[in-house]
Amino acid sequence: MDTSNNVRASKNDAGPVVAIDGPAGAGKSTVAKAVAKIFGMAYVSTGLIYRALTLKALRMGIDVRETESLVRLAETTEVAVEPNEGECRVFLDGEDVTGELTSPEIGAYVSQVAEIPGVRSALLDIQRAIGSKGSVVMDGRDIGTVVMPCADVKIFLVADFDERVRRRVAQARERGYDVVEETVISEIMHRDKVDSGRTVAPLKPAPDSITIDTTGKAPEETIMEVAGVICEILSKNKDTKEVAGGKGDTPCFM
Ligand code: DC
Repeated sequence: MDTSNNVRASKNDAGPVVAIDGPAGAGKSTVAKAVAKIFGMAYVSTGLIYRALTLKALRMGIDVRETESLVRLAETTEVAVEPNEGECRVFLDGEDVTGELTSPEIGAYVSQVAEIPGVRSALLDIQRAIGSKGSVVMDGRDIGTVVMPCADVKIFLVADFDERVRRRVAQARERGYDVVEETVISEIMHRDKVDSGRTVAPLKPAPDSITIDTTGKAPEETIMEVAGVICEILSKNKDTKEVAGGKGDTPCFM
């Protein structure tokens, strides 16, 4: 089910929506969490939703090639997201599974699960329901293009491959996982290929997004850059709303 024609959040009708898309390791979650805090918005990582479904599939022993079973699973599983104080907690059929979702095992399977069109459409409504409430920073791969095409601000983060690998290795080790660099290299290569090459909602910048290269930048530098862009766009939108007599009816681009 694709309800993209009906999507309209935000451009002022709800609180602002900030979309931060980009490949694995580009810095999305660090930046999204920080700017959500700066602007007092909720933070939602949509990748965690795909990861929660992948966790369930692994628990049930469903192979990533069993497309129909995975679609059925996506249609019958309850995934709830609770943004709270800069963190994003995820509930799988009522169970808080947040702590399990960043394991290398899930990382190795999730892009294949997320590639399945039926899985994507089953998980679209929950993402749109979150976005429609407004006042939210959402990170993912297709937030600006498919999930929230009317997002007020669309940022597309990129970084050099080697740097993305270094960040992912450091992140995994910080979380206590004993990862080998070669494994991370092949996993990121594989995920880039699958995320960008899939037929439905591939990873790509929205035409009206702003691309920011985070290579060689400290997280604080990128956070301030992104915060500056958000500030500028939101105040422009506010001015437009005032000039339009308070209607705030900026047309949706998509
Ligand atoms: O951001 P992440 O690494 O947690 O994302 C996990 C996987 O989910 C990633 O391989 C791509 C997929 N994903 C997606 O297809 N669309 C999104 N909006 C978010 C994530």
